[in-house]
Order: sequence, then C-alpha cells, then structure tokens
Amino acid sequence: MNNYSQMKYDNKNSSIKYIDYRSDTFTKPSLEMKQAAMDCLLGDDVYEEDPTAIALQEKMAKMLGKEAALFTSTGTQGNLIAMLCHCARGEEVIAGDRYHIYSDEAKGASVLGGIAMDPLKTDQFGSINIDDFLGAIKQDDVHYAISKLLCLENTVSGCVQNQDHIDALAKAAHDHDIKVHLDGARLFNAAAAQDVAISSLVKNIDTISICLSKGIGAPAGNVLIGSKEFIHNARRQRKLLGGGMRQVGILAACGIYGLDHNVPLLKEDHRRARRLAEELAKLPQISINLDLVQTNMLFIEPDANDRESLRHFLYERNIIIGAPNPTARTVVHLDISDDDIDHTIKSFKEFYSN
Ligand SMILES: Cc1ncc(COP(=O)(O)O)c(C=O)c1O
Repeated sequence: MNNYSQMKYDNKNSSIKYIDYRSDTFTKPSLEMKQAAMDCLLGDDVYEEDPTAIALQEKMAKMLGKEAALFTSTGTQGNLIAMLCHCARGEEVIAGDRYHIYSDEAKGASVLGGIAMDPLKTDQFGSINIDDFLGAIKQDDVHYAISKLLCLENTVSGCVQNQDHIDALAKAAHDHDIKVHLDGARLFNAAAAQDVAISSLVKNIDTISICLSKGIGAPAGNVLIGSKEFIHNARRQRKLLGGGMRQVGILAACGIYGLDHNVPLLKEDHRRARRLAEELAKLPQISINLDLVQTNMLFIEPDANDRESLRHFLYERNIIIGAPNPTARTVVHLDISDDDIDHTIKSFKEFYSN
C-alpha cells in the first residue's frame, strides 16, 4: 500500500493548527500572498492576454536562463505535457524507477500518449547510472520503442543530485540525439542547498517543470520551461489536456509572490529539517539515515510495533506524519516554525519515555 491510501484528517476546525509533515504541498497561502492574488491584473490566458501569467512565465524563463515558460495546473500536467511534446506514439521515455514521472503520475504518458516508459534502477540518493542509461537506449530495430527522452529529477526524495553527474547524463543523452527533461518540482530546494543560481542546474537540460505549490507555498500551479519552439507546442498540448485556463493570473500572482518572498526562506526549512532529523536520530527506537537529509525531507522509520500508536500519539498533540510503512516521509515547509520543531521533538521524546 502506498502513502496516499492513508487516513484523512478533518480540516474543518480552523482553530486547531496542525503541524503537518506529510508534504510541502500542505502549505497554505499567507494573507500577503492572497492579497497579491487580489491585486493582480487579469486577462484571458488562452488568448495569451493575462498580464500576471505572462509576468510569471517571463520571470521563470529568465531565472532558469531559457527562452520561454508556460503556466500549468500541476507538476503532473507539466511533466505530461513535456513528454507529449518530446515523444510521439511508439517512442520512449527513460527515467529513474523512483522518479515521480514514472512511479506516481498514473503512467499518463503511456495511457494518453502511447509513449513507452523504461525505468532504470536508482541508487539511495536517487541517481541513475550512466552505463545503465546507455544500455537502455534502444537500437533502431522494429522490436523496440524509439528512445527519445531522458527524464531526470532534482531533488529526489529530498536528495540533491550531483551536478557533474546530471551534466554527464545530459551529454550522454544529447550524443544519442535524446532530449532531457527535468522534473524540478523542488529544484529551488536543490539550488538553495548548494547556494547556487538555479540557472546553473539546468544549463544542459532541455526542458524543466517546477512546482509552485510545494515549498514555494502557492495554493496551486507549476511552470514548464524551455525553448520558444517547445513552449509553443506545450501550449497546444496543455489545451488538448484541458489545461487552458482563463484568468489564471490569480494563481500566477501567488507564484510570483512565492518566488519573491518564500524561495529565500527554503534554507530555513532545510535547517529545521536537519535539526529535527538529528534530534530524532538520537532516539534508539527510531532509525533515520542522516546522509539522506539534504534539504527539507527526512524519512523516519519507527520500530514496527510502535508505528500506529506513535502516529496517533502525535496526532493528539496536533502533529501529523505520513503513514510509516515502514518509513514516514516527513517534510518541513513554510508553515512549520522553530517552535513547531521543538514541540515535535518533545512529543517524540515523551512517546518513547512512556
Ligand atoms: C518530484 C515530484 N514531481 C512531480 C510532482 C507532481 O506535482 P503535482 O502534485 O502538482 O501534480 C510531485 C508531487 O508531489 C513531486 O513530488
């Protein structure tokens, strides 16, 4: 059973503030972000007349050092549009077996686009091996789908991908006339962790998808980035998928606000995640691999007998963690403060002292 099939929490009592570690998608827009949405200029984005959507797209393209960008409803839609642009029916995407695009997007590229997907083994940091990639590129043979696209991801489960390795994979792909798409749902976390400009992470990548509704804190939205030609085609694919929205500036304004005000705060999330991980790792009943805590995520593995009781004990103290099976992905984000981390550490200690 995966992490999504877990119990639902009642959200109706607004007087209770839950410290929700299930995902950075649980961030709620701040008053200032909502105000930015209220104040923005709007138009019909299918006619390419929404000034705020255009401003967001131009801003993202510039930040990434690419020609153009396109707002999409979700990360899943951004990735799917990219695959539909790069591959035709009977062609193939090669991706890491743990990458969201392969494991968590309902195989949309295959279901809707007739695109084959070849998954490669990833190591504990989420990286794929170059020889495995080269070995997966199919020869021109009627028995095989035609390899057209390599999909990478950064961060992978919170791990920052080694840039030299990403660049080497991209070069290997381009040498074989294969394009490279990066699922950068949390690419700003990777940039923050390394203290580098985000553009330096995508110099050799053709197309990138970046989520606005995770650590950046917008209620919804994602941006797809690439060449002008790619974005022209992406706009058609977005329409085909029913993703041509109208006064989308309301959401784009939240994205712009998040880029300006929340991206600089990502390092704080990383510092808090590290502190939480280091403190919890001191508890003998819990196992955490600290090498994997590189940005805003940690994976907590409680003793098998304690899993459900721990979760309920924490919930009674307004702390929500994912279902540990066996590890609970724990994500620190904008709506989690230093005090919240203190309260969480204290609650874990209390549980194990009983
Ligand atoms: C790495 C990664 N890529 C893509 C997505 C998809 O984003 P969305 O939920 O906006 O479709 C997610 C969502 O959690 C993700 O973690």
